[in-house]
Amino acid sequence: MDAKRLSAEKAVGYIREGMTVGLGSGSTAYYAIQKIGEMVKQGLKIKAVATSLKSERLAKQLSIPVCDPFHIDSIDIAIDGADEADPKGNLIKGGGGSLLREKIIAYASKRFHVMIDESKLVDRLGKFPLAVEITPFASAFTIKHLKALGCNPGLRKTNGDNYITDNGNLIVDCRFEDIGDPAWLDVKLKMIPGVIETGLFSNKIVTSIFVGYQRGEVKEIPVNP
Ligand code: 5RP
Repeated sequence: MDAKRLSAEKAVGYIREGMTVGLGSGSTAYYAIQKIGEMVKQGLKIKAVATSLKSERLAKQLSIPVCDPFHIDSIDIAIDGADEADPKGNLIKGGGGSLLREKIIAYASKRFHVMIDESKLVDRLGKFPLAVEITPFASAFTIKHLKALGCNPGLRKTNGDNYITDNGNLIVDCRFEDIGDPAWLDVKLKMIPGVIETGLFSNKIVTSIFVGYQRGEVKEIPVNP
């Protein structure tokens, strides 16, 4: 079985009757949502909040009850993929462009389960370009300030047009190559006017990382059990 699917199926095993579940975005989250759909079909009663319009559509197709987060007091567990994870549990996310909603839901959840394949476990973050969501207004200034923090920034495009997030914003992919202090960088980035959110997720909000291996095994790395 695909290593992403293995990690996804393990991570959703913690979902119980009556829980409110945050649904992540991306191809690993797709496997998790499919599995949750099967569990719902077999009678599991849960509520879900989605971190992207794509995941919301998928959940609805699978008859998973999806709520507006505005009407939710707390989230029991959120499950999501990542682009990179270091051994301390810091993450780079946002390869799929859903980082703002993903971060809001992850921070609001009692448990945050991260699902990755072995290729995404790295000693230090930064090889994968860090996605930063910025306002379209005066974006050239914002990008100039991002560059001044030592990265090579590139405005994300799809089919030649600017990529637009579910929130109507732009994404800048920032190549840092090596991020020594993710928490410090996150603060510096968010001090730039025009930056809405970054794809740096602090280890403080991660409960466990589930690493799927090609050889068919899944290892759980507890971060804040
Ligand atoms: C989307 C994300 C994804 O979780 C991340 O990009 C990993 O994606 P995939 O599971 O497709 O490898 O952060 O914004």
